[in-house]
Order: sequence, then structure tokens, then C-alpha cells
Amino acid sequence: MRVVMPHMWCRATGAVVGLLWFSTLSAGSRCEFKQIESSSLEPGFEQGMTHPLLIQTAGSGRTAEMIDGLGNITLYITTAIGNQAQHGFTQDEQIAASEYIQRLETNKSIPYAFRQCHLSPSCDRALAKAVGIPSFLRETARELFMAVGSFPGSFPLHSHDRTWALSLAGSKRWFTSPPGKPPLRPYVDHDEDSLKRAGFQYCVQHEGEVVFLPRGWWHAVIVQSNWSLTVGGQGASKDLVFSACRGDLAAFTSSRPHQLNRLDPSGISPAGHAARAGHAKLLATFREKGADLQSPDGNGWTLAHHAAKLGHVEVIQWLAEGGISVTERNRMSWTALHTAAKAGNVEVIRALLQARAMVEPKDQAHDFPNVMLYSMQHAHRLVRYTVRAQTRNVQCREVS
Ligand SMILES: *[C@@H]1O[C@H](CO)[C@@H](O)[C@H](O)[C@H]1NC(C)=O
Ligand SMILES: *[C@@H]1O[C@H](CO)[C@@H](O)[C@H](O)[C@H]1NC(C)=O
Ligand SMILES: *[C@@H]1O[C@H](CO)[C@@H](O)[C@H](O)[C@H]1NC(C)=O
Repeated sequence: MRVVMPHMWCRATGAVVGLLWFSTLSAGSRCEFKQIESSSLEPGFEQGMTHPLLIQTAGSGRTAEMIDGLGNITLYITTAIGNQAQHGFTQDEQIAASEYIQRLETNKSIPYAFRQCHLSPSCDRALAKAVGIPSFLRETARELFMAVGSFPGSFPLHSHDRTWALSLAGSKRWFTSPPGKPPLRPYVDHDEDSLKRAGFQYCVQHEGEVVFLPRGWWHAVIVQSNWSLTVGGQGASKDLVFSACRGDLAAFTSSRPHQLNRLDPSGISPAGHAARAGHAKLLATFREKGADLQSPDGNGWTLAHHAAKLGHVEVIQWLAEGGISVTERNRMSWTALHTAAKAGNVEVIRALLQARAMVEPKDQAHDFPNVMLYSMQHAHRLVRYTVRAQTRNVQCREVS
């Protein structure tokens, strides 16, 4: 059964809003970014790019179909948008995208909702399939995301890795400033006049357009239409990295072990990217092909550290069952258990404790007090654990 989103269909196919805006604002005055047609961009264009771009894309006629394909994605409504801007996560109420958008109809004060798709293979799959990431954006698609907000919602000043954002519905005002010290205080809202006075570059983005920002550019975003729906990508994903992040088995049929072991410029192997994105099946394929899944990567992290940080329980279980160590220490002397505790990934902690039932009690005695400490320091709605480590039979009890 198809998700029924009648309002979205009307709005997405109507395009009346977009036409109105186009007629009242000339293209020059509405955007100070360099403007370019997507047809003139090749994969790798971003290497030489030092400024924001507004990219006109062909084929925005598929918008309604794309939105329909996103309806089942779970979003997280965030009431702490400053926190979201700073740390890139949210743990508030969960809601299906289709339901959220319907709620926007009746509730104008509903806050922004997001999904970071690298935290869920099914989200990544749904988004990549619905949007069909254009080839010129493939090298900036390590992590995909989706954001929905309503007027006059705004996203506070923040910066991060190289990124692009495609508007599938609605218009947004962007304010950008180069990497380095931002002209205004980050992670809080500033009104449009303050942003303009502080010298931020200004651009209105319409439906079907992509905003591209090189790494480290500060940006604040304000929803201009009644609501907006954006999908996008972040982070470098050259060559095999793109396919590893998507869990795309077919892309690796002819791969050799040395290709699978090659580290990208961030020091991570294709297997590391698969672990970060939660693709246990792809890891199994890599193992069959003779990839090295044991050695730490260029940053001293094992696959278990990556999966623990991003919350991928399935990967942790697959590693433990396959006899791949989940107990190595990184350069900070952290095991995956510490990483999971710091990130607040309770299910991963549980899976690691189960896996660790097989390791030496002296190791457990060393780790568990630290895990409890990190859990408490970084508690976001976090369950604290009490652990009895003196026996091989590890028990953990959740205390609220
Ligand atoms: C959304 O979920 C419904 C019910 O499970 C399913 O029938 C439909 O195909 C899904 N839509 C997409 C685009 O995956
Ligand atoms: C609108 O949404 C907000 C946040 O989810 C909620 O607190 C408020 O009660 C809702 N208002 C109505 C009328 O549903
Ligand atoms: C935006 O919402 C307002 C108030 O609900 C409504 O009057 C207006 O028609 C909407 N505009 C568009 C373009 O949908």
C-alpha cells in the first residue's frame, strides 16, 4: 500500500508557491551565492570549490514521487534545535515522515524534525532510492539526512563537514560565513537583520534547488514557505566509499582485498564505512573476499568502535559471532564499550556486555567502572548500568 499523503501531493505538484516567488524576486537579488546548472557539474567538482553554490537541478518533476518514497522514514521531532545544530543528533519524539507532514497541516507550532540516515540502514536505503542521488553529488554523500520544518522555523548558526541540501518542498533563506571564527555566536538563533549586518552571504533556495557548502562554512537557515522538506548529504564519499555507505553489495563483486583494505583520506576503510552505516551483510561479503576486518584503521579504530559509536547493534553482534574482536583499545585506550557509553547507545552496550561474557574477568574489572562513569557524564536519557564483573557470567542491571 502506498503512503497516502494527499496534502503533500497537492503542494508538491502544485508548484504555485515556487512560481510566485520566482516572479516577485529576480534571480540576481535573491541569491548572493554563485549559481550554476547541475548539468555542468561532474563528480569531484567539490574538490576545487571554496564557496557556497546554488545549483539548479534538472528533473525536479519527480518531486512528488520522491516525497512519497520518503513517507515511511522515521523522523525525530526536536525541541532542542540548538543542541541538534551543535551535536547533530536528537532523541525526542519519533514520528513517521508522512504523519509529521500531515500534522504540519493543523499544528503550526510543531518543531523541526530530522533524521540522520547513517544511523539506520533502512533510512539510508529509502532516501537513496527515493531521491536517486545525482552523480555529481556522489562524492559528498557519506551520510544522508532529511529535515522537515514549518514557517518560521529556523536552524541556528552552525558548521560541519562538506554538505549539500536539496529542497523537495518549500523555500528557505540561507545565511553563510566562511570557516574560522563565526561573526556571531554559534548554536543560537539570530534574526535576519543581525545576520545581514554581520556580513553573512544571503541566498533564497527554492524547491528543486541544491545548496552546496564546502567544509566548515557557517550557516543559519530560516524556513520561508509554510513548510519545507529537505534531503541532503554530508562528508566525503569518493569511489568505493559511496557504495560502502549504501550497503551496495553489487558494487563490490569484482573488488580485490587490497581495494577493500585501502584507507580513504579520513583514515577509514570501506569496511569501516560499512560498519559506520550499519551494513552487517556487506561486512560478510568483505570477509568472503578476504578483506582484513581485524586491524585498526588509520585512526586506531576497529570496526567495533565505529559500530558502537553509531549505534549499530547488528554489526556488533555480527562481529562478535564471527570471532572478530570487539574488545580492542583505540589510541585513547578506549574499547568499543566506552565509545558506546559515551554515545549513549544502550542497545550496543547490552550487546557488547553479552559478547564480553567470554573475555577475561580482569579486563572487565578495568573497563566497567569507566563505562559507568562515561554513561553518567554523557547521560542523555541514558540508562545507567551496574555491572557485576567479578564472575565470567556478566550481569547488568539498568537503573533509571
Ligand atoms: C511504506 O510502508 C507501507 C506499509 O508497510 C508499504 O506498503 C509501502 O510500500 C512503503 N512505502 C515505501 C515507499 O517504501
Ligand atoms: C503542536 O505541537 C506541539 C509540539 O509537538 C505540541 O506541544 C502542541 O500541543 C501541539 N498543538 C496542538 C494544537 O496539537
Ligand atoms: C500558508 O498558510 C496560510 C495560513 O494557514 C494560508 O493562508 C496560506 O494560503 C498558505 N500559503 C500557501 C502558499 O500555501
